[in-house]
Amino acid sequence: MDIKVITGEIDKIEAGAVIVPFFEEAEEPEGDAAEADRLLEGAITQLVRQKEIKGKLNEVTVIYSLGKLPSGRVVVAGLGKKADVTVNKIRSAVAEACRRLRSRGVESVAVPALGSGAAGITDAVSAQAVTEGAILGLYSFRKHMTKPAEGEITQLIIFAPDSAGLAALQQGYEKGRILAEAAIFARDMVNEPSNHMTPTAMAGMATRLAHTHGLELTILEREQMRTMGMGAILGVAQGSELPPKFIVLRYKGTDSGETDVALIGKAITFDSGGISIKPSEGMGDMKGDMAGGASVMAAMGAIAQFRPKINVMAVIPATENLPSGSAFKPGDILKSMSGKTIEIITTDAEGRLTLADALEYARKQGAKRVVDIATLTGAVRVALGTVCTGAFSNNKEMEDRVIAAGAEAGELVWPMPMYDDYKEQNKSEVADLQNSGGRNAGAITAAQFLAEFAGDTPWVHLDIAGTSMSDKERGYTVKGATGVPVRTLVNFVLAMQK
Ligand code: BES
Ligand code: MN
Ligand code: ZN
Repeated sequence: MDIKVITGEIDKIEAGAVIVPFFEEAEEPEGDAAEADRLLEGAITQLVRQKEIKGKLNEVTVIYSLGKLPSGRVVVAGLGKKADVTVNKIRSAVAEACRRLRSRGVESVAVPALGSGAAGITDAVSAQAVTEGAILGLYSFRKHMTKPAEGEITQLIIFAPDSAGLAALQQGYEKGRILAEAAIFARDMVNEPSNHMTPTAMAGMATRLAHTHGLELTILEREQMRTMGMGAILGVAQGSELPPKFIVLRYKGTDSGETDVALIGKAITFDSGGISIKPSEGMGDMKGDMAGGASVMAAMGAIAQFRPKINVMAVIPATENLPSGSAFKPGDILKSMSGKTIEIITTDAEGRLTLADALEYARKQGAKRVVDIATLTGAVRVALGTVCTGAFSNNKEMEDRVIAAGAEAGELVWPMPMYDDYKEQNKSEVADLQNSGGRNAGAITAAQFLAEFAGDTPWVHLDIAGTSMSDKERGYTVKGATGVPVRTLVNFVLAMQK
């Protein structure tokens, strides 16, 4: 989709459709909607009177302009109550309107700085939200479909009435485009099936990302992992015919020589459960068990484009988890890179094993802070549903920063308890730790397991098992991969440089 930012007014702009806002409980159209109403000889006002237009969030009303203005349709997008408008509601409203127009064969859409002025939203922030809403909402994964899509919106025009407002719109649009494209990069990786998105394919994507954005790249092969003592990830990798890849990307924004933050992403390219095999129903979704790794890679691409003055390292331990004659087994004891030994209760609690070695690696590399992102437990979905990502941390201040970065992105994050009492459940009778704490508080005990490897490094763990994929279309979320929490991670890193 080609996006351009121009000066222009609704009576001059030519597009398949032009979107104007309407707030719930408003008596009459205002701003761009008022202008459209005038050109349409009162059609919007009439529809409001008839209660056809209520302004409820995500409500979309298409009015044919029949030559009364240069664009073929005026689309009235409901934004909810004016006082309650948020950036995220703008993203959603634009996404819903764009999808509706696409289904009707519209190819170009013009949008003003929707919602700007309401609830403290600036032109720049609105343009960013419009861009994100359109790109994310119109996303589809068609790579393996041999028939072309039926209709596509090929052009988005963001317009301001005068050139004074143009710079702000342009700036907001550029930020929104980088963020949304990063989220889509992650969605594409997560939607890709495991026969395509193998650990080697992930390493290939990292290599391309490094070349495109000038990132430093290190890929450790199985032998090097063995030399470094990464017995935990190697245990998981044992059952697969495919070679594991321990992927490290580095972005340098300063010469300080320090690694200000490490982003670690779980990257199980397929999680069958291993010998503790999962039930077959829904197992295909486990192609998405590399969503943490994908989101970290996508965030690095965006960070490289924003060029913040800090140093960021990404660590992506990639492998499959499969049963075979060589697979690790329940009862086995693995020695992690940290030296801590782990009794395997279930081979399906594999993510925490790969992350244990990644956390140790990041610490040895001198990371001052760590965020790990993982589709770690079904339990987090039981606790928080698909609405928010669970956050677990040993550092309240850092956790608050991640939550704030999430709020800015419209990606909800909720803090979970980390009382020491939970550690009890991870105690083994034959090793330092066991890899499952049982059914109770499964998301917390998984996090407590990771905490053992984070040590005293300020650390936040994000369990995205409920949020990385969606089974329904809503707002700017479509079915399949969501791209969560790419935009949160980028916002977090950008806010850190200040
Ligand atoms: N990858 C899964 C977690 C998961 C579940 C992600 C559903 C996305 C959707 C993880 O490796 C896993 O299998 N966790 C187990 C842990 C248990 C065996 C201690 C789980 O949640 O059941
Ligand atoms: Mn598993
Ligand atoms: Zn898993």
